[in-house]
Amino acid sequence: QMPSSNDGQIVNPLIEQRADPWVYLHTDGYYYFTASVPEYDRIEIRRAMTIQELAAAVPVVVWEKHPEGIMSKHIWAPEIHHIDGKWYIYFAAGREDEAFAIRIYVLENEAENPLEQSWVEKGEVKTRWDSFALDATSFEHQGVRYLVWAQHDPDILGNTNLYIAAMSDPWTIIQPQVMISTPEFEWERRRFLVNEGAAVLKRNGRIYITYSASATNHYYAMGLLTAADDSNLLDPASWSKSPDPVFATNETTGQYGPGHNSFTVSPDGDDILIYHARNYRDIAGDPLYDPNRHTRAQRLYWNPDGTPNFGIPVPDGVHPVRISTETGFIRHDGDSIVIDANVSDIADSQFQIVPGLADSDAISLESINRPGSFLRHRDGGIWLDENDGSDEFANEATWIEHPGLADSTAVSFEAYSLADQYIKQHGNLLILESISTNADRANATFGEEF
Ligand code: AHR
Repeated sequence: QMPSSNDGQIVNPLIEQRADPWVYLHTDGYYYFTASVPEYDRIEIRRAMTIQELAAAVPVVVWEKHPEGIMSKHIWAPEIHHIDGKWYIYFAAGREDEAFAIRIYVLENEAENPLEQSWVEKGEVKTRWDSFALDATSFEHQGVRYLVWAQHDPDILGNTNLYIAAMSDPWTIIQPQVMISTPEFEWERRRFLVNEGAAVLKRNGRIYITYSASATNHYYAMGLLTAADDSNLLDPASWSKSPDPVFATNETTGQYGPGHNSFTVSPDGDDILIYHARNYRDIAGDPLYDPNRHTRAQRLYWNPDGTPNFGIPVPDGVHPVRISTETGFIRHDGDSIVIDANVSDIADSQFQIVPGLADSDAISLESINRPGSFLRHRDGGIWLDENDGSDEFANEATWIEHPGLADSTAVSFEAYSLADQYIKQHGNLLILESISTNADRANATFGEEF
């Protein structure tokens, strides 16, 4: 049974030609979505009860750019927030007569449903300098509301740094604004010295802020700032920066320039990373006007030490799954498959369910970081081998996925070419064997999660 997209399964790209994607799950159960549109001329909102259904949801245009003057050009990266009982949209905009005089603006709507009634312009968020400012995001922590945004400091070479300030209301910051990140590592300084697109996630006693760095082509990559949740968030010393990008271009899965992310949660409470990427590397002309930064969604995982594990940008198509036993997740190790209690390279344990190589009504399991290699049985063992195009390989790499033999909410895998032979755990390996006892049924039952 192939999971169809209406199984709530996330299928990437989620929404084409929507950059800087923002998803907000409200208390009404709706996921609200907004993003930069290729024309940069309007703000549209859509909502749905699941993340995947956002793809088909009809967007409503809630605000359009002015014909001239402020807010008349380059309408960028809107975010919708619900603060103290009202809806707010933060966005950046330039002017028809000065396209890169980019400043931060706020809209407010008192309606229960933000797709209804009118949005009131609350004006520009005044900051320390009258300079290029964009990508504002807001969060509340211990009773204080903060704004984090990207801005050019006239005294610092380069484009933008990240700043934080407390807020007196949802459209006003209180000085001092404090710089918490500036492009310092090589991967932040590729073609443009940029830190922008901040997103905030509070987990495990820490405040995590992801951000995007470098030019918006395949150089674009995500960095991570971390502060203890009981630290003074307005003290730059509270913030530490990961020296390496946490999420970047991946040639293997064909995703380039991933970034300008936001975070949401699945109905099961799993953390979901929302971001944009292109599925090609080379761009004709200015990347800013290439419309194919598509919105994507994937699971965000956590390391045993409570730090986030972003993995790699998953390939286009249905979201990959991870297959587990009581003792860990299965992952490839060379051409072997092992069960590992602490998978550090998440991608080694992610497999995309694709139509069966021998029968499209059955399935095959393709490694996401070794595309073209599939889970197959051979001589009673289970391996990850490269498809050699033979019928024999197709038969040994095709599986019939059943409800779990020991737990119908789980799954079991019967060999397509050897009826009644199932994948079974055997120590920290997998074997192919027939089933006769309850222990067999338990060892042939696996968790499957995305
Ligand atoms: O997508 C438009 C702008 O491009 C976004 O505001 C910024 O994050 C990126 O540089």
